[in-house]
Amino acid sequence: MSRTYSRQFVHPVALLSVKYQDIENLATMAWVSPVSFDPPLVMVAVSPKRYSHELVEKSGEFALIVLSDNQKELSTLAGTKSGRKEKKWDLEPFKRLRKEPQIIRAPLLKECRAAYECKLVNQLTTGDHTLFIGEVVAAEIHEDVDPLILFNREYRKIGDFIARYP
Ligand SMILES: Cc1cc2nc3c(=O)[nH]c(=O)nc-3n(C[C@H](O)[C@H](O)[C@H](O)COP(=O)(O)O)c2cc1C
Repeated sequence: MSRTYSRQFVHPVALLSVKYQDIENLATMAWVSPVSFDPPLVMVAVSPKRYSHELVEKSGEFALIVLSDNQKELSTLAGTKSGRKEKKWDLEPFKRLRKEPQIIRAPLLKECRAAYECKLVNQLTTGDHTLFIGEVVAAEIHEDVDPLILFNREYRKIGDFIARYP
């Protein structure tokens, strides 16, 4: 089946931040979702080809930084180069926006829609991705900025309000 099947879903765009020993990395992830209220769990689907994959497994923790709709350049920067070849946290603007986390070791960004610090509590390799499940141990939410959306390989802003769901 062509990859078109996967492009009918609307995604937030998040940066997966991870630190293992002295190695810090960042990668863009769109296959991201909350999966439990109590405890608060989030899921990110990471291909084993990504450098981030081994760093999450080794460190046992990660941050998910949900980008705002004026940060598409950050998504492209973190999502088109591998940390195996380039220290992404040394690139502008990541260096400029870097912020220390509260509980885990992976760095955060000063600007974003939301950021979740997570402890890895479960993982499932299914098909060609691994679902990493993280328990949220700290979170920040900036409701004054809208999230960046990915749909059908295009970056989008949130559309018109239609109605509040019951
Ligand atoms: C918008 C966008 C969304 C992406 N979503 C995912 C994803 O959900 N899962 C994944 O494994 N890779 C995803 N990628 C690809 C990785 O971000 C990319 O391969 C990155 O270079 C991996 O970096 P690393 O090798 O340093 O971990 C996405 C890339 C972009 C640009």
